[in-house]
Amino acid sequence: MTKYERYQDYVIKDGKLVGEFETMYQDFDNPWDQSFRENSVLSKSMVENILRISDFKRPYEIGCGLGYFVEKMRVICGSAGGLDVSKTAIEKAKVKFPLCHFDVGDILEVEKILSFQPDCIFMDEVTWYVLEKLDEFKNLISKHFKGISILHTLRQYPQGTQQYGKDYFTDLKGFMKYFEPVVDYSDWGSFGSKADPCMHTFFFGVVK
Ligand SMILES: C[S@@+](CC[C@H](N)C(=O)[O-])C[C@H]1O[C@@H](n2cnc3c(N)ncnc32)[C@H](O)[C@@H]1O
Repeated sequence: MTKYERYQDYVIKDGKLVGEFETMYQDFDNPWDQSFRENSVLSKSMVENILRISDFKRPYEIGCGLGYFVEKMRVICGSAGGLDVSKTAIEKAKVKFPLCHFDVGDILEVEKILSFQPDCIFMDEVTWYVLEKLDEFKNLISKHFKGISILHTLRQYPQGTQQYGKDYFTDLKGFMKYFEPVVDYSDWGSFGSKADPCMHTFFFGVVK
């Protein structure tokens, strides 16, 4: 018996953040199809490519969930870390990917991220869920992460369908404008697919 019928209902419902991530991971084994979705999302292929050509040694993913992409980063870069607010997700990630480093924590707990000494921060599909913390996160990264690379992927909802977070941004141009004060961009782009009405966006840069 799960608390809500669908995993999506633990996240955002009726245009409001629910944010019950820990309960969601207790009730559902594979939310967002994390165990197999990676390979079909083109923005992730772009991230993989950037990791390969940039010679990063210690990438770190914020909002890493069950850790599948952290493992991919480890294989590419030699070591990798990840943080997620859900204890259950991180316990599972540690069992499945024992060669990676994982932390339970919130995006604002930057001391946990810093203690891994990352050379690249990856924010993967987490930004919609931390909107109210983003201003503080921006301040923290400009204070503590200067010179560290940042990779960001986020789904952009089809025009007219976005209910949550419209006051912040609605498309890649908006995501980039928001982060512009603290990120010096080098690459960005959006991918569309017949299989998904959302655009999959990414940007890459260095924290100023
Ligand atoms: C859409 S999932 C992305 C999982 C994985 N990165 C992927 O793409 O398969 C978003 C993740 O962000 C995590 N999350 C939500 N709020 C967070 C916060 N404040 N700090 C850290 N992680 C958070 C959730 O627990 C969830 O695992």
